[in-house]
Amino acid sequence: MNPKTFKIKNFGCQMNVYDGERISELLADQGLAAAADGEDSDLVVLNTCHIREKAAEKAYSDVGRLKREDGSRPMIALVGCVAQAEGAEAKARSPMIDMVAGPQAYHRLPEMIAAAARGDRPVDTDMPAISKFDALPVRRRANPSAFLTVQEGCDKFCTYCVVPYTRGAEISRPWGDILAEARALTSSGAREIVLLGQNVNAWEHDGNGLADLIRAIAKIDGVERIRYTTSHPADMNEDLIAAHGEVEKLMPYLHLPVQSGSDRILKAMNRSHSTESYLRTIERVRAARSDIAISGDFIVGFPGETEEEFEATLRIVDDVRYASAYSFKYSARPGTPAAVMEDQIAREVMDDRLQRLQARIAQHQLAFNRSTVGLNTQVLIERSGRRFGQMIGRSPWLQSVHVETDVQPGAILDVTLTAAGPNSMTGAARQSEAA
Ligand code: 5AD
Ligand code: SF4
Repeated sequence: MNPKTFKIKNFGCQMNVYDGERISELLADQGLAAAADGEDSDLVVLNTCHIREKAAEKAYSDVGRLKREDGSRPMIALVGCVAQAEGAEAKARSPMIDMVAGPQAYHRLPEMIAAAARGDRPVDTDMPAISKFDALPVRRRANPSAFLTVQEGCDKFCTYCVVPYTRGAEISRPWGDILAEARALTSSGAREIVLLGQNVNAWEHDGNGLADLIRAIAKIDGVERIRYTTSHPADMNEDLIAAHGEVEKLMPYLHLPVQSGSDRILKAMNRSHSTESYLRTIERVRAARSDIAISGDFIVGFPGETEEEFEATLRIVDDVRYASAYSFKYSARPGTPAAVMEDQIAREVMDDRLQRLQARIAQHQLAFNRSTVGLNTQVLIERSGRRFGQMIGRSPWLQSVHVETDVQPGAILDVTLTAAGPNSMTGAARQSEAA
């Protein structure tokens, strides 16, 4: 039977959040209704992530849990990066999975659902030359801060990472398509556009780079803020750095993962940058935009990492003074070169290093937050807070700001930052909506 209602369960990165939105619009376009929270649905789409830890096992156990008390179950679509990695194997491992679609194939879900309704179990993990984007419906709903995927895939082949295998080679969406989607998002309520890509700063089309794209998006009426993520240090070119000084709508925030503070480990990771070249890039970005908040990603316990090499990572955290950062225990991913390296690090050592690294990052994050207390700035209101009359939004530096106000999501509010917490700020509204 053809499903009438659906639910999407998202895991992983912002690109998956974006894909989840597009799948939701695609299914709505086919006449399916999104099931309300806590309600059963005829179809469940599991949008999976493969980046760390037993991802496949977790996905299969999530599938298993969809069995209802009466023994029945919804139609189940496995999509995302686990789907890409497992392919047809997924059907063998779980008889409950009705269809499997990779990140470049989910535009075919309507036909796959029809096939599943007839009792087939379709699998599509192709990475076709024809873009899925051409087959997806026009954007009609957008959050105040809206994701827009402009680039997918990765050619960098860091030795720990599955992305080049699950998301495929680097591809850039064409200039015109991106501008059209940005316009559609703003007419649907977006005021901030977050450009997404596994290597977003490697985006290029017809001789244009990401900086050109940012300048063009800044000219769209209704776009008030622009961000982009995630960047690779090797692709941080002069023009993009200059854009930070020049494009007012480009927010003062840069997520630039370094992964480790040890040059030997960076080499073993095949990162194609050194600590020195990374620090020089940060310096140039700060010269262009002195108040920029820097964020990063770190991996502790890469094979062979010594205590001294880990301490070098703590030092680079101090050197950069990150405003925020994500840190992870190294996780061996099947099929990656690092998974078969000698000297895999013991779990307890990784636990200890992660704890120390996170404590250090937290110190800098709090220091950054405190340094912004007293500033008059603007907050893009995104949602209501837990308390009555409280709204939550984002500062230019991507801090989460709590503020008492009666304006609605989408408003850009003049705010004075009044108090700093480890993970958020308190602000006081200075007047009603500014823009
Ligand atoms: N183990 C741990 N962390 C990883 N990341 C990517 N692959 C792995 C892995 N195998 C982290 C990196 C990357 C972020 C998205 O996830 O820090 O920047
Ligand atoms: Fe993975 Fe490295 Fe590519 Fe980032 S740059 S997606 S860490 S291979």
